[in-house]
Amino acid sequence: MKVLGISGSLRKASYNTRLLAAAGAMLGDDVRLEIHDLADVPFYDADLDGSDKPAGVRALLDAIGGADAVLFATPEFNYSIPGVLKNAIDWASRPAFESVLRGRPTAILSASPSTLGGVRAQVHLRDVLSATLTPVYPSPDFLLASAHKAFDEAGGLADEATAQFLQRYLSGFIDWARKMAAADRT
Ligand SMILES: Cc1cc2nc3c(=O)[nH]c(=O)nc-3n(C[C@H](O)[C@H](O)[C@H](O)COP(=O)(O)O)c2cc1C
Repeated sequence: MKVLGISGSLRKASYNTRLLAAAGAMLGDDVRLEIHDLADVPFYDADLDGSDKPAGVRALLDAIGGADAVLFATPEFNYSIPGVLKNAIDWASRPAFESVLRGRPTAILSASPSTLGGVRAQVHLRDVLSATLTPVYPSPDFLLASAHKAFDEAGGLADEATAQFLQRYLSGFIDWARKMAAADRT
């Protein structure tokens, strides 16, 4: 099973990208997480959204289209998701209601140095994804608060209880995504 990780941050030392990497290390042997960088996705421009799309957009659409599931990790910027992530979803959302996002099992993580862990961005991201007919894993949210203190030197989650919660969240997500895929085939 292939899971595409999309971080809403372009920053090299991003806590959200690190959270995706930590999640990838927790997945079973039969699940592979690939993180897709959004740095090459230009601003959405309907004039460029024809059959010959910009290379960064083509790469994003191919990555989503080739994944069994998508795992987002988003920062919270001014109580919402970063423009970088919204822009990428706007590109991926076309053609409307028939895009690569439609029906693709998805889950949302967030990380922030604040004590709220980016939860407001998660709520906004769920809402945005509902416009694209993207099913989001129904579960209690996983959010990483105080992210600047959350990682150990090996890049894992330092707090054992938080690591266990993420592990349970990911197992539930993968089971749910597999059931969605099986239901799709029947
Ligand atoms: C423009 C901007 C707005 C931000 N607004 C919020 C916010 O509303 N809530 C929050 O928890 N953190 C906010 N932050 C702090 C980010 O959570 C922090 O920079 C975080 O490290 C970004 O995620 P990253 O580490 O994955 O790059 C903001 C940061 C920036 C640059």
